[in-house]
Amino acid sequence: MNNVWNADRANTIIGQFRTVRGGLLPALHALQHHFGYVDDAAIPLLADAFNQTGADIYGVLTYYHDFKRARPGRHTIKVCRAEACQSMGSEQLLDDIKKRLNVDVGGKTLDGEFSLEQVFCLGNCALPPSIMMDETLHGRITIDQVESLCRKVRS
Ligand code: FES
Repeated sequence: MNNVWNADRANTIIGQFRTVRGGLLPALHALQHHFGYVDDAAIPLLADAFNQTGADIYGVLTYYHDFKRARPGRHTIKVCRAEACQSMGSEQLLDDIKKRLNVDVGGKTLDGEFSLEQVFCLGNCALPPSIMMDETLHGRITIDQVESLCRKVRS
C-alpha cells in the first residue's frame, strides 16, 4: 500500500504476529504490504518482538529477495520476462521502458513516481507481452501504451 513509515503502526502490525509460531516472516510480509517495503527502522522492533538480535532479523530480511528495503515509487510497473512474453518482445519492451522512464530494473524514477520490476509470468501468457501497472494487468502492450498508462496514473 506504500503508506509512509510510522513506527507506531509498524509496532501494531508486528504485534499481530508476536505470539504466532514462525511469525517473523508473516510480520515482514505484513510490513511490506502496508508500507511497500521494510524500513530498516523495523529491525530493532522485530528483534524485540521476536526475541532475536538485529543481526538475525537483518539476515532474514536480506536472505529473501522479495523484501524491498527502500521505499518504492508511487506506482509499480512489472514486466513479464517469461517465455511467452519474451517470444513477443518483452525484452525490447523492458529496454524501452528503462530508456524512456530512465529507470533500471529494481529502481525507481527520479521523481519517485515509478518502480520497475521484472517478473516471470503474470498468468496472462495468451496475451503477450504482458505487464502489470500497480494492480492492473495489461496484455499485448506496446511501449507507447505503457507511456500512455504512465501519463494516466501520474495525472
Ligand atoms: S509468460 Fe508472460 S504472462 Fe505468462
